[in-house]
Amino acid sequence: MSTPAQTGARSDASGYRDRAPNLCLGETRFILESVPAEEWTTAEHVHRYLGRADECPRRAEGESVLLEHVPRDAVRILDLGTGDGRLLALLRTDRPEMAGVGLDFSELMLEAARERFGDGGRVELVEHDLAEPLPAIGRFDAVVSSMAIHHLEHERKRSLYGEVFDLLEPGGVLANFEHVASPTHRLHLAFFAAIGEPLEYEDPSDRLLDVESQLVWLRGLGLDDVDCYWKWLEMALLIGVKPAESR
Ligand SMILES: C[S@@+](CC[C@H](N)C(=O)[O-])C[C@H]1O[C@@H](n2cnc3c(N)ncnc32)[C@H](O)[C@@H]1O
Repeated sequence: MSTPAQTGARSDASGYRDRAPNLCLGETRFILESVPAEEWTTAEHVHRYLGRADECPRRAEGESVLLEHVPRDAVRILDLGTGDGRLLALLRTDRPEMAGVGLDFSELMLEAARERFGDGGRVELVEHDLAEPLPAIGRFDAVVSSMAIHHLEHERKRSLYGEVFDLLEPGGVLANFEHVASPTHRLHLAFFAAIGEPLEYEDPSDRLLDVESQLVWLRGLGLDDVDCYWKWLEMALLIGVKPAESR
């Protein structure tokens, strides 16, 4: 995580910092840093994020590559940090028969997802804090995520990937479209310049991690074909496939 000194954000002794909105990740002011994801419980932050999600440059391009790599015949798909169900909705376009499960810990986000899918869809929404072990929700042909796992501490990211491996059916795909760390501070600045935001708009719940570390973890789990399939500055698509012979 970037320190306030790196980001230019103002912190006082109590751990609060005065912040401005982030184009991709929403607006929050006076966030307690020790409660990193508290902001996702505030209507202001959630609605601002949702209102601007389509404005994030190159996002649609990265998402389209993700869609290409999730098999059309995937029956059960899990979305980690589903928000308002954006990714599940995109996946459903070409997979109308799929059954989706969306996990998120923000009641406001889940409410937005319920509104999107209504009652009739084959999408189940589950309130769950990803900082905790995944609940027993069965196995999946694909596990996807978009701009969510980077909110978790690094060790939890790693253990979560392990739990995802266990949830995948043999041949199943993990596809994480993620906000990742830049290798240098200069490139971090370049990303914020590219999205047209001042750096002090950075999200305090970000725990950005570089692509390479995550690819090493995914390979270490035994996933095949692990690579970064698309990247633009701090947005990256990490994919791996569970070997068909695994259990
Ligand atoms: C930037 S939004 C992305 C939402 C959605 N995936 C999308 O692509 O639009 C991050 C999402 O991660 C969720 N999130 C962050 N930390 C979480 C946690 N510890 N457990 C569950 N969800 C979390 C937030 O509530 C929010 O919905």
